[in-house]
Amino acid sequence: MINSYSYYMVHDMFSINPLLNELIGEQAFALIAKAREVQKRKGIKVISFGVGQPDFDTFPHIKEAAKKALDEGFTGYTEAAGIPELRKAIADYLNESYNARVTERNIVVTTGAKTAILLAIGAVASRESEIIIPEPTYYAYSQAAKIFGAQPVFVPMEWSRERGFKINIDKLIEKVTPKTRAIVINNPNNPTGTVYDKRDIERLLEVARENNIALISDEVYERFVYNGSFTSIASFDDWLENGILINSFSKTFSMTGWRLGYVVAHERITERLVSLAVNTYSCAPSFVQKAGIAALKGDWTPVYEMIKEFKERRDLLYKLLSEIPGFEPNLPEGAFYMFPRIQGILRKASLSEEEFSDKLLEEAGVVVVPGTAFPDKAGKGYVRFSYATSKQNIIEGVNRIKEFLEKNNYI
Ligand SMILES: Cc1ncc(COP(=O)(O)O)c(C=O)c1O
Repeated sequence: MINSYSYYMVHDMFSINPLLNELIGEQAFALIAKAREVQKRKGIKVISFGVGQPDFDTFPHIKEAAKKALDEGFTGYTEAAGIPELRKAIADYLNESYNARVTERNIVVTTGAKTAILLAIGAVASRESEIIIPEPTYYAYSQAAKIFGAQPVFVPMEWSRERGFKINIDKLIEKVTPKTRAIVINNPNNPTGTVYDKRDIERLLEVARENNIALISDEVYERFVYNGSFTSIASFDDWLENGILINSFSKTFSMTGWRLGYVVAHERITERLVSLAVNTYSCAPSFVQKAGIAALKGDWTPVYEMIKEFKERRDLLYKLLSEIPGFEPNLPEGAFYMFPRIQGILRKASLSEEEFSDKLLEEAGVVVVPGTAFPDKAGKGYVRFSYATSKQNIIEGVNRIKEFLEKNNYI
C-alpha cells in the first residue's frame, strides 16, 4: 500500500534527466502561445510574422487521397520504413528532379522533417562526437546532436548587405577534428533565406569525403527558390557515399500538421535507421502516407501558384522593410523568411533581440522571432520575419512596426 510518506519518498528519489534542462524548444511555437494571450488580453488582432508554415490550405487532391484511404480502412500500422508505394514515389521524384539514382531502399519515411533530423543525426552522432553546424540556422540540429550526447560545433556564416549570409568553407574546415561525425546544412536556409552555391555544396561534399564524415542536408524549402537555381546534394555523382538528405511534405504541399517527411541515405544506413524509426514512432500515419503519394504524383500547379505568391510577398516585404531606417534586410534567395539586421535599433533601444520581440508584440501586436533563436550566436542583432502571411498583413504589420519605432524614439 502506498501511504503519503512512501509517495513523497518515491518522488524525492525520482530524478529527471538533466539533458531535458539543456534542450531548447522552438521559439516560433512559444510565440504562438504568447500572441494568443496578447490577442485575448488586449482584444487586438495580432499580426504574425512568426510562424514557419504556409498559410495555404492543404491542396484538395491530397485531402481526397487521405479521405479515400480512411474510407478504405487503411488505418493500421505500416512498414516502419514507410509503404513501398510511397518510398517508390519519393525515389521517382528525386530521380526525376535531381538524377539522384536512388531506389525505395534508400528511403525511410518519417513523421515530418523533425524526426528525419533526429534519425539522420542519430545515424552518425555518438557520445562525445562533434557535429558541425553553420549558423544562423534551424535550431533542431543542435538539439538532436545533444540528445545523442554529441557536441554541436557552430560555424558562423558571414553577412554582407549585398549577399546576405554566406558560408566560409575554409573557416568550417578549421573546425573539423577527429571527433567530427557530420556537417549539417539547411539549404535553402531558415532563417536567412540563403541558397547555397553549387560550388559550395560540391566543396562540402569533398570535405565530407576527405574526412570520412557525413554531409547532412535539410532541403525542406527546396521548392521555395526565387532567383537562380537550387542545388540538391542528391544531384552529385556518388553523393550517397557521404550525403544524407532530409526532406518533408510540410512546406511544399502545405502539410505541416500531417507529419510526413523522409530521410534518404545509403542502404547501409537506411537499413539501420529502420530500427531507430520503429523504436521511436513505429511508422508514419498510414493514411497520411497515401496522401503523400497523391502529393508527389498529382498536379503540382497549386504548389507553383503558392510559390509565385510567396515571391511577390518577399518583394513587398523587402521593399517595405528597406524603407525603415535602421532595418538592413537583404533579399533572400529562398525559403519564406527575411532576416534583417537591426543592430543599430537594438543598441539605441538598449534591448536584447528577445526583449525587442516581446515589446513589439505587447505594444504593437506584431510577432517577429528574435535572431538568437537560431543558435548559437550569429543571429545576434537580427530578427526573423516569415512572409507566410497575406500581403495585407505584411503592409499593416510593417506600418505598425514603423509607428512602434517612432513612438519609442528608436529611429
Ligand atoms: C529547416 C527546417 N527543417 C525542418 C523543419 C520541420 O519540418 P517538419 O514540419 O516537416 O517537421 C522546419 C520547420 O520549420 C524547418 O524550418
